[in-house]
Amino acid sequence: MDELAEKIADARDRLAGAASIIVLTGAGISAESGIPTFRGQEGLWQSFRPEELATPDAFWNDPKLVWEWYEWRRNIVKQAKPNPGHYALAELEAETHNFTLITQNIDGLHQISGNRNIVEIHGNLWQVRCTKCGDIVENHDVPMAELPPRCQKCGEIGRPNVVWFNEVIPMDVIDRSLKAIEECDVMLIIGTSGIVEPAASMGLVAKQTGKCVIEINLEMTPSSPLYDLTLLGKSGEILPLLYTTERTYS
Ligand code: OAD
Ligand code: ZN
Repeated sequence: MDELAEKIADARDRLAGAASIIVLTGAGISAESGIPTFRGQEGLWQSFRPEELATPDAFWNDPKLVWEWYEWRRNIVKQAKPNPGHYALAELEAETHNFTLITQNIDGLHQISGNRNIVEIHGNLWQVRCTKCGDIVENHDVPMAELPPRCQKCGEIGRPNVVWFNEVIPMDVIDRSLKAIEECDVMLIIGTSGIVEPAASMGLVAKQTGKCVIEINLEMTPSSPLYDLTLLGKSGEILPLLYTTERTYS
Protein backbone atom coordinates (compact mmCIF):
# COMPACT_ATOMS: atom_id res chain seq x y z
CA MET A 1 0.00 0.00 0.00
CA ASP A 2 1.28 3.48 -0.74
CA GLU A 3 1.34 6.12 1.96
CA LEU A 4 -1.96 7.76 1.00
CA ALA A 5 -3.77 4.42 0.84
CA GLU A 6 -2.48 3.59 4.31
CA LYS A 7 -3.65 6.92 5.67
CA ILE A 8 -7.05 6.47 4.04
CA ALA A 9 -7.38 3.04 5.66
CA ASP A 10 -6.44 4.56 9.00
CA ALA A 11 -8.98 7.38 8.58
CA ARG A 12 -11.70 4.90 7.62
CA ASP A 13 -11.10 2.91 10.81
CA ARG A 14 -11.26 6.02 12.95
CA LEU A 15 -14.48 7.21 11.30
CA ALA A 16 -16.07 3.77 11.51
CA GLY A 17 -15.51 3.74 15.27
CA ALA A 18 -16.89 7.24 15.85
CA ALA A 19 -20.40 7.83 17.18
CA SER A 20 -20.01 11.57 16.93
CA ILE A 21 -18.37 13.32 13.98
CA ILE A 22 -17.84 16.98 13.26
CA VAL A 23 -16.78 18.29 9.87
CA LEU A 24 -15.35 21.72 9.10
CA THR A 25 -15.29 22.73 5.44
CA GLY A 26 -13.74 25.61 3.52
CA ALA A 27 -13.66 26.79 -0.06
CA GLY A 28 -11.56 23.79 -1.20
CA ILE A 29 -14.51 21.40 -1.00
CA SER A 30 -16.38 23.46 -3.61
CA ALA A 31 -13.36 23.93 -5.90
CA GLU A 32 -14.23 20.80 -7.88
CA SER A 33 -17.71 22.26 -8.39
CA GLY A 34 -16.08 25.17 -10.24
CA ILE A 35 -16.30 27.76 -7.45
CA PRO A 36 -13.03 29.67 -7.02
CA THR A 37 -11.26 29.46 -3.66
CA PHE A 38 -10.02 32.62 -1.92
CA ARG A 39 -6.30 32.04 -1.71
CA GLY A 40 -3.79 30.28 -3.91
CA GLN A 41 -2.95 30.89 -7.54
CA GLU A 42 -6.47 31.01 -8.88
CA GLY A 43 -7.94 32.38 -5.67
CA LEU A 44 -10.48 35.19 -5.54
CA TRP A 45 -8.28 37.35 -3.36
CA GLN A 46 -5.69 37.44 -6.13
CA SER A 47 -8.04 39.57 -8.21
CA PHE A 48 -9.92 41.47 -5.50
CA ARG A 49 -8.73 43.13 -2.33
CA PRO A 50 -10.81 41.96 0.65
CA GLU A 51 -10.72 45.36 2.31
CA GLU A 52 -12.22 46.86 -0.84
CA LEU A 53 -15.15 44.50 -1.05
CA ALA A 54 -15.75 42.29 1.97
CA THR A 55 -16.04 44.85 4.75
CA PRO A 56 -18.85 47.01 6.18
CA ASP A 57 -16.87 50.15 5.21
CA ALA A 58 -16.63 49.01 1.60
CA PHE A 59 -20.36 48.35 1.54
CA TRP A 60 -21.36 51.75 2.91
CA ASN A 61 -18.86 53.43 0.64
CA ASP A 62 -20.34 51.83 -2.48
CA PRO A 63 -23.21 49.37 -1.87
CA LYS A 64 -23.81 48.85 -5.58
CA LEU A 65 -20.19 47.86 -6.27
CA VAL A 66 -20.19 45.34 -3.43
CA TRP A 67 -23.52 43.95 -4.61
CA GLU A 68 -22.15 43.62 -8.15
CA TRP A 69 -19.32 41.49 -6.78
CA TYR A 70 -21.82 39.31 -4.93
CA GLU A 71 -23.97 39.09 -8.03
CA TRP A 72 -20.93 37.81 -9.95
CA ARG A 73 -20.38 35.18 -7.26
CA ARG A 74 -24.10 34.28 -7.16
CA ASN A 75 -23.96 33.72 -10.90
CA ILE A 76 -21.05 31.27 -10.56
CA VAL A 77 -22.64 29.43 -7.64
CA LYS A 78 -26.04 29.20 -9.31
CA GLN A 79 -24.51 27.14 -12.11
CA ALA A 80 -22.50 24.94 -9.75
CA LYS A 81 -23.54 21.49 -8.60
CA PRO A 82 -22.35 19.58 -5.54
CA ASN A 83 -19.43 17.24 -6.26
CA PRO A 84 -18.74 13.73 -4.89
CA GLY A 85 -17.11 15.26 -1.79
CA HIS A 86 -20.35 17.01 -0.85
CA TYR A 87 -22.40 13.85 -1.47
CA ALA A 88 -20.00 11.76 0.59
CA LEU A 89 -20.57 14.10 3.56
CA ALA A 90 -24.34 13.81 3.18
CA GLU A 91 -24.02 10.02 3.36
CA LEU A 92 -21.68 10.28 6.32
CA GLU A 93 -24.30 12.34 8.16
CA ALA A 94 -27.02 9.80 7.35
CA GLU A 95 -24.86 7.02 8.81
CA THR A 96 -23.62 8.84 11.91
CA HIS A 97 -25.43 9.03 15.24
CA ASN A 98 -24.33 12.56 16.06
CA PHE A 99 -23.11 14.69 13.15
CA THR A 100 -22.46 18.41 12.72
CA LEU A 101 -21.14 20.17 9.63
CA ILE A 102 -19.57 23.56 10.18
CA THR A 103 -18.90 25.42 6.95
CA GLN A 104 -17.15 28.66 6.11
CA ASN A 105 -18.72 28.47 2.66
CA ILE A 106 -21.68 30.62 1.74
CA ASP A 107 -22.57 28.72 -1.44
CA GLY A 108 -25.30 26.49 0.02
CA LEU A 109 -24.00 23.34 -1.76
CA HIS A 110 -24.01 21.27 1.44
CA GLN A 111 -27.77 21.80 1.72
CA ILE A 112 -28.31 20.75 -1.89
CA SER A 113 -26.30 17.54 -1.52
CA GLY A 114 -28.33 16.57 1.52
CA ASN A 115 -26.60 17.55 4.75
CA ARG A 116 -29.03 18.69 7.43
CA ASN A 117 -27.22 19.67 10.61
CA ILE A 118 -25.24 22.57 9.15
CA VAL A 119 -23.71 25.58 10.90
CA GLU A 120 -22.93 28.29 8.37
CA ILE A 121 -20.43 30.40 10.24
CA HIS A 122 -19.99 32.96 7.43
CA GLY A 123 -23.64 33.20 6.41
CA ASN A 124 -25.34 32.44 3.10
CA LEU A 125 -25.07 33.96 -0.35
CA TRP A 126 -28.78 33.44 -1.06
CA GLN A 127 -30.04 35.49 1.87
CA VAL A 128 -30.51 39.26 1.92
CA ARG A 129 -30.62 41.07 5.28
CA CYS A 130 -32.14 44.51 5.70
CA THR A 131 -29.57 47.01 6.96
CA LYS A 132 -32.24 48.74 9.08
CA CYS A 133 -34.80 46.30 10.44
CA GLY A 134 -32.69 43.14 10.10
CA ASP A 135 -35.37 41.20 8.19
CA ILE A 136 -33.83 38.26 6.30
CA VAL A 137 -35.28 36.99 3.02
CA GLU A 138 -34.23 34.20 0.64
CA ASN A 139 -33.47 35.52 -2.82
CA HIS A 140 -32.19 33.31 -5.66
CA ASP A 141 -32.63 35.85 -8.48
CA VAL A 142 -29.62 36.25 -10.74
CA PRO A 143 -29.60 39.02 -11.78
CA MET A 144 -31.53 40.72 -9.01
CA ALA A 145 -34.43 42.98 -9.92
CA GLU A 146 -32.74 45.96 -8.27
CA LEU A 147 -29.20 46.58 -6.94
CA PRO A 148 -28.96 47.09 -4.05
CA PRO A 149 -32.19 45.24 -3.24
CA ARG A 150 -34.77 47.01 -1.04
CA CYS A 151 -36.42 45.64 2.09
CA GLN A 152 -40.09 44.85 1.51
CA LYS A 153 -40.91 45.70 5.11
CA CYS A 154 -39.20 49.04 5.64
CA GLY A 155 -37.78 50.10 2.25
CA GLU A 156 -34.14 50.34 3.37
CA ILE A 157 -31.35 48.71 1.38
CA GLY A 158 -30.43 45.10 1.94
CA ARG A 159 -26.99 43.53 2.25
CA PRO A 160 -25.77 39.98 1.72
CA ASN A 161 -26.43 37.98 4.90
CA VAL A 162 -22.77 37.07 5.23
CA VAL A 163 -20.00 37.84 7.70
CA TRP A 164 -17.45 40.35 6.46
CA PHE A 165 -13.97 41.19 7.72
CA ASN A 166 -14.20 43.40 10.84
CA GLU A 167 -17.54 41.82 11.75
CA VAL A 168 -18.30 39.36 14.52
CA ILE A 169 -19.76 35.93 14.06
CA PRO A 170 -23.06 35.61 15.97
CA MET A 171 -22.52 34.12 19.44
CA ASP A 172 -25.07 31.31 18.96
CA VAL A 173 -23.12 30.14 15.91
CA ILE A 174 -19.90 29.97 17.92
CA ASP A 175 -21.70 28.21 20.78
CA ARG A 176 -23.12 25.55 18.48
CA SER A 177 -19.70 24.97 16.93
CA LEU A 178 -17.90 24.64 20.26
CA LYS A 179 -20.55 22.31 21.65
CA ALA A 180 -20.22 20.06 18.59
CA ILE A 181 -16.42 20.01 18.94
CA GLU A 182 -16.77 19.10 22.60
CA GLU A 183 -19.10 16.21 21.79
CA CYS A 184 -17.22 14.75 18.83
CA ASP A 185 -14.96 11.72 18.65
CA VAL A 186 -13.47 12.62 15.28
CA MET A 187 -13.16 15.95 13.48
CA LEU A 188 -12.63 16.19 9.71
CA ILE A 189 -11.18 19.46 8.38
CA ILE A 190 -11.59 19.78 4.63
CA GLY A 191 -10.35 22.30 2.06
CA THR A 192 -9.51 25.23 4.29
CA SER A 193 -6.24 27.13 4.46
CA GLY A 194 -6.74 27.56 8.22
CA ILE A 195 -5.91 31.24 8.19
CA VAL A 196 -9.21 32.96 8.98
CA GLU A 197 -10.49 32.87 12.56
CA PRO A 198 -12.42 31.47 14.32
CA ALA A 199 -12.46 28.43 12.03
CA ALA A 200 -8.67 28.38 12.05
CA SER A 201 -8.62 27.59 15.77
CA MET A 202 -11.37 24.98 15.81
CA GLY A 203 -9.01 22.12 14.98
CA LEU A 204 -6.71 23.29 17.75
CA VAL A 205 -9.58 23.34 20.24
CA ALA A 206 -10.44 19.78 19.20
CA LYS A 207 -6.83 18.66 19.63
CA GLN A 208 -6.54 20.32 23.01
CA THR A 209 -9.54 18.36 24.21
CA GLY A 210 -8.10 15.06 23.00
CA LYS A 211 -10.07 14.55 19.78
CA CYS A 212 -8.82 12.84 16.65
CA VAL A 213 -8.47 15.41 13.85
CA ILE A 214 -8.14 14.39 10.20
CA GLU A 215 -7.39 16.95 7.52
CA ILE A 216 -8.02 16.70 3.77
CA ASN A 217 -6.31 19.27 1.58
CA LEU A 218 -4.37 19.58 -1.65
CA GLU A 219 -1.39 20.72 0.38
CA MET A 220 -0.06 20.92 3.94
CA THR A 221 -1.39 23.87 5.95
CA PRO A 222 0.18 25.69 8.91
CA SER A 223 -1.95 23.52 11.24
CA SER A 224 -1.16 20.14 9.64
CA PRO A 225 1.60 19.26 12.15
CA LEU A 226 -0.96 19.46 14.98
CA TYR A 227 -3.37 16.97 13.45
CA ASP A 228 -3.45 13.18 13.61
CA LEU A 229 -3.60 12.68 9.86
CA THR A 230 -3.39 14.84 6.75
CA LEU A 231 -4.68 13.24 3.55
CA LEU A 232 -3.23 15.09 0.59
CA GLY A 233 -5.46 15.19 -2.47
CA LYS A 234 -8.78 16.40 -3.83
CA SER A 235 -11.64 16.15 -1.37
CA GLY A 236 -13.98 15.00 -4.15
CA GLU A 237 -11.74 11.99 -4.68
CA ILE A 238 -10.72 11.21 -1.10
CA LEU A 239 -14.00 11.68 0.78
CA PRO A 240 -15.94 8.98 -1.09
CA LEU A 241 -13.14 6.52 -0.16
CA LEU A 242 -13.38 7.18 3.53
CA TYR A 243 -16.32 5.04 4.41
CA THR A 244 -17.30 3.14 1.30
CA THR A 245 -15.66 1.44 -1.63
CA GLU A 246 -18.20 1.43 -4.40
CA ARG A 247 -20.73 4.15 -4.81
CA THR A 248 -21.73 6.24 -7.78
CA TYR A 249 -23.01 9.76 -7.54
CA SER A 250 -25.09 11.42 -10.18
P1 OAD B 1 -8.97 29.40 1.10
O1 OAD B 1 -9.08 29.81 -0.32
O2 OAD B 1 -8.17 30.25 2.03
O3 OAD B 1 -8.32 27.95 1.16
C1 OAD B 1 -8.78 26.90 0.34
C2 OAD B 1 -8.04 25.65 0.74
O4 OAD B 1 -8.58 24.56 0.02
C3 OAD B 1 -6.54 25.69 0.44
O5 OAD B 1 -5.83 25.23 1.59
C4 OAD B 1 -6.38 24.72 -0.73
O6 OAD B 1 -5.14 24.03 -0.70
C5 OAD B 1 -7.54 23.76 -0.50
N1 OAD B 1 -8.09 23.13 -1.72
C6 OAD B 1 -8.27 23.67 -2.95
N2 OAD B 1 -8.85 22.79 -3.78
C7 OAD B 1 -9.05 21.65 -3.06
C8 OAD B 1 -9.63 20.36 -3.34
N3 OAD B 1 -10.12 20.07 -4.55
N4 OAD B 1 -9.66 19.44 -2.35
C9 OAD B 1 -9.16 19.73 -1.12
N5 OAD B 1 -8.62 20.91 -0.78
C10 OAD B 1 -8.57 21.87 -1.73
O7 OAD B 1 -10.45 29.18 1.64
P2 OAD B 1 -11.00 29.12 3.15
O8 OAD B 1 -10.00 28.47 4.05
O9 OAD B 1 -12.35 28.54 3.08
O10 OAD B 1 -14.24 34.43 4.54
O11 OAD B 1 -11.10 30.65 3.49
C11 OAD B 1 -11.62 31.03 4.73
C12 OAD B 1 -12.36 32.32 4.61
O12 OAD B 1 -11.51 33.31 4.01
C13 OAD B 1 -13.56 32.31 3.69
O13 OAD B 1 -14.72 31.78 4.29
C14 OAD B 1 -13.74 33.77 3.37
C15 OAD B 1 -12.30 34.13 3.11
O14 OAD B 1 -11.94 35.40 3.34
C16 OAD B 1 -14.96 35.56 4.43
O15 OAD B 1 -15.26 36.05 3.36
C17 OAD B 1 -15.35 36.14 5.74
ZN1 ZN C 1 -36.16 46.48 6.61
